Amino acid sequence: MMKFEASHNSIQAAKELDNSDELSGMRNNFHFPVTESGNKALYFTGHSLGLMPKKAQDYIEEELNAWKAFGVEGHFKGKHPWLPYHEFLTEQMSEIVGGKTSEVVVMNSLTVNLHLMLVSFYRPTKKRFKILIENTTFPSDKYAVDSQARFHGHNPEEAIVQLEPSDGKMTLSDDELVAQIKSHGDSLALVMLGNCNYLSGQCFNFEKVVQAAKEVGAMVGFNLAHGAGNIILDLHKIEADFAVWCTYKYINSGPGGLAGAFVHEKHLKDPTIPRFEGWWGTKKETRFKMKPDFEPMDTVESWQLSNPPIFQLASIRASLDLFSEAGFKNLRAKGDDLTGYLEWLLKTNCGEKLEIVTPAFEEGKQTRGSMLCVRVKGNAQAVEEKLKEHDAIVDFREPDILRMAPIPLYNSFEDVYELVSIISKALK
Ligand SMILES: Cc1ncc(COP(=O)(O)O)c(C=O)c1O
Repeated sequence: MMKFEASHNSIQAAKELDNSDELSGMRNNFHFPVTESGNKALYFTGHSLGLMPKKAQDYIEEELNAWKAFGVEGHFKGKHPWLPYHEFLTEQMSEIVGGKTSEVVVMNSLTVNLHLMLVSFYRPTKKRFKILIENTTFPSDKYAVDSQARFHGHNPEEAIVQLEPSDGKMTLSDDELVAQIKSHGDSLALVMLGNCNYLSGQCFNFEKVVQAAKEVGAMVGFNLAHGAGNIILDLHKIEADFAVWCTYKYINSGPGGLAGAFVHEKHLKDPTIPRFEGWWGTKKETRFKMKPDFEPMDTVESWQLSNPPIFQLASIRASLDLFSEAGFKNLRAKGDDLTGYLEWLLKTNCGEKLEIVTPAFEEGKQTRGSMLCVRVKGNAQAVEEKLKEHDAIVDFREPDILRMAPIPLYNSFEDVYELVSIISKALK
């Protein structure tokens, strides 16, 4: 990551950093919202909803035109026939999450996929029935695991256990994490973590989580809502059992965009794994023979239920093409620089009025992605409102949290400098 020093604390320096950034032109591929005052927004909420790639409109229009021209025949005709449409995304999506193409599919929405994975990978017994989640789990994930525990006849109060950072902190060390996984021993059926954590931005050490879970004999799955398209992932290599993610945050697919799912290849042909089934998961060759018996595909596609919404797939394709153009590793490297710059400017210009919750960057370790979580010593909501008045969009969470994500595909060093200037004035 770049090192920053006093000379970087100016708009001129920020502009120079942009001038020497090979990815600076990528932002021209996106539409930026225009605020009420008629200005282009300083957009820092890509961790909530990514910006619209300009090409999304063309890609969706292509499918509207195919529908217009071919009707039902669009399933087989046109540049991108609908029958295999989801396959046009598989290779690029597999690269983003570090899975084999047989292990990665885009389907449904996130919480739906989480439930489908829990059906397959949470199979509690009397003795081994607990699911370990973060203490700050995204509510939908908590509802999902609670309801799954209940579905299996367990009391969520006993079955759902949460990580506990020490001393009231919002993050925890690798050692604490491993110790807490191990402390549940053979009562643990599943470790299911949001990575990165949606609130603190902490990226848990994937390898250590998987290793500790395996040591106690638990399955391990990840919710990558805040990881996919943000941090470097290697799901196959680390041997996660499953993962799910949405695409409307860092993958810029648009509101309610489709989600992804990963199942490790070692589980793909295991007939003992239960699965909820639908016709899109049955073998392609015989799907339209309308047979009554399900013949699972050999890949994670066998978890598919329905024929997918093509317009939604089209918008994801538009964004994935930009990831391919930029190169994901390049994006992560720029993401580290941009996030480092944001952190350094905040510390330098507003230090005593803010506490940065997200772990610091560590060379060779992935401790965070492109989002910083900051606690404001004072009125955080007032700061957010001041930011809005100045066309900057960040995210406020009760009681004192601001989250902001400098996204390497479309944010610039100048954006970051301007954001911190406004925050610093608001805090005064
Ligand atoms: C970590 C996490 N889990 C679950 C969800 C819920 O997603 P969906 O509404 O797509 O099911 C979100 C959405 O922001 C999320 O960030």
